[in-house]
Amino acid sequence: MAQSFDVVVIGAGPAGYIASIRAAQLGLSTACVEKWKTPKGEYALGGTCLNVGCIPSKALLESSENYERVLHRFKAHGISASGVKFDLKTMLERKDRIVGRMTSGIAGLFKKNKVTWLQGHGKLASGGTTWKIEVSDGKKTESVEAKNVIVATGSKARQLPGVPVDNKVICDNEGALAFDSVPERLGVIGAGVIGLELGSVWRRLGSKVKVLEALPAFLGIADESVAQEAWKLFTRDQGLDIELGVSIAEVKLSKKGVSIQYAGADESSKTLEVDRLIVSVGRTPNTEGLGAENVGLKLDAKGFIEVDKNCRASLPRMYAIGDVVRGPMLAHKGEDEGVMVAEIIAGQHGHVNYDAIPWVIYTAPEIAWVGKTEQQLKAEGVAYRAGRFPFAYNGRALGREEPEGFIKILADAASDRILGVHAIGSLASELIAEAVVAMEFGASSEDLARICHAHPSMSEVMREAALAVDRRALNG
Ligand code: FAD
Ligand code: NAI
Repeated sequence: MAQSFDVVVIGAGPAGYIASIRAAQLGLSTACVEKWKTPKGEYALGGTCLNVGCIPSKALLESSENYERVLHRFKAHGISASGVKFDLKTMLERKDRIVGRMTSGIAGLFKKNKVTWLQGHGKLASGGTTWKIEVSDGKKTESVEAKNVIVATGSKARQLPGVPVDNKVICDNEGALAFDSVPERLGVIGAGVIGLELGSVWRRLGSKVKVLEALPAFLGIADESVAQEAWKLFTRDQGLDIELGVSIAEVKLSKKGVSIQYAGADESSKTLEVDRLIVSVGRTPNTEGLGAENVGLKLDAKGFIEVDKNCRASLPRMYAIGDVVRGPMLAHKGEDEGVMVAEIIAGQHGHVNYDAIPWVIYTAPEIAWVGKTEQQLKAEGVAYRAGRFPFAYNGRALGREEPEGFIKILADAASDRILGVHAIGSLASELIAEAVVAMEFGASSEDLARICHAHPSMSEVMREAALAVDRRALNG
């Protein structure tokens, strides 16, 4: 007889594995289907995030930043080093070790919480009072039953038509996290989050990087003032070559690497020759082969599963979470949806506050924000006050030799409630947490301005930005 569960989760990325653990914590019998295999052919949990996304990219960002610090930033401290070298193999092995540790950690968590891991491809087979899911490992197929299904199948790199990704010379995120040598000339198509993060890694390790971006504006997703500052720091100070407003015509493998023909913003025809190319032009949802058509699960025109604000899909007792549904493609957004859905299935009142999901881009300096940008508030006709404070006036930032950037707070003109916080600077990824807490608690800029912040600390910049909303910054 087929195994039967209260909940079957399809996909064990951050959305699915967290949903599984929360469901099991709540006493629901839970299984999670996952088909991911490591390059060695072993099944692994953790999805894109742990295997080829957040975790390995941050490991390489840290290693490459350390190298850059030794080469360029330690001089100001009076520290010089000669003959500084790095060993790429060790760097990549360290990254792989971290990934292995994290993914096997989830296997341990599944054991601890009694989540059954079903290894293989999960497919919705039929519905009714219980859902039937087929799990196939390529050799045999078994059928399991579930009262509730959570689809958490995630996303994959979007392909450009006619651009043959082989993950050796022309790479998406998977290949770009595992180059076996530092390319002398590296091309990147797409100046989005992956292009900037992975472009930074290889630039720091010695590549001459050229980024080709279709849009005429840089980093349109961020607050304009942050995007302007980032443009200045990345292009002027760090030598990242970014060309905006391009239109890619043809990409082909050449004798030495890759040849990219494109039109510049002025429509002039150009050719870029590089040794390797990263294609990072967004991601598409994984719904192929899911069996959506077998059960009548509704997808939108782009292949995302249609859900309501509580991640309920178009069918009873069927939910979808993470990258496979609308909203930002961020690990923590998927995790929070996983908790929400598990709690709803258990009869609780789970919810996600989509207005307080932080974004972080792990460049140096880091970029982080939560809430509305200034351009969004203007477009919505919301009256607001802005307060901005630079890291250059902060003693800790100077002591750390990290004076670049600023924090900006946007608050409602009438109520003073914080509507958005935007940071570019060292440790912005950590500093933004205070802003997220403030927004979750409906704080005003006055609230932040009156909270005691440790001195000297980078967090004082947050307080000064809050004071600046009311034109009463104390140190600048
Ligand atoms: P995924 O992580 O994609 O997991 C889905 C899982 O489902 C996969 O393991 C897949 O094998 C499995 N699956 C799919 N279909 C089936 C099926 N039919 N049967 C069985 N299993 C199936 N986000 C951040 O918040 N911070 C970051 O720093 C960050 N860095 C990133 C860096 C890179 C290079 C990339 C590519 C992404 C990054 N992201 C980051 C985005 C983040 O990885 C995703 O938002 C997150 O992984 C989405 O989680 P998910 O669980 O929805 O999907
Ligand atoms: P992205 O959406 O961030 O950026 C893609 C860029 O490619 C855009 O600027 C777009 O205008 C450009 N583009 C699209 N088509 C193009 C074309 N034909 N020619 C030139 N440029 C083109 O997508 P990216 O970088 O692939 O990352 C995918 C997602 O993964 C991110 O949106 C984010 O959700 C997630 N991610 C999150 C990270 C983080 O939280 N730190 C890190 C990396 C990825």
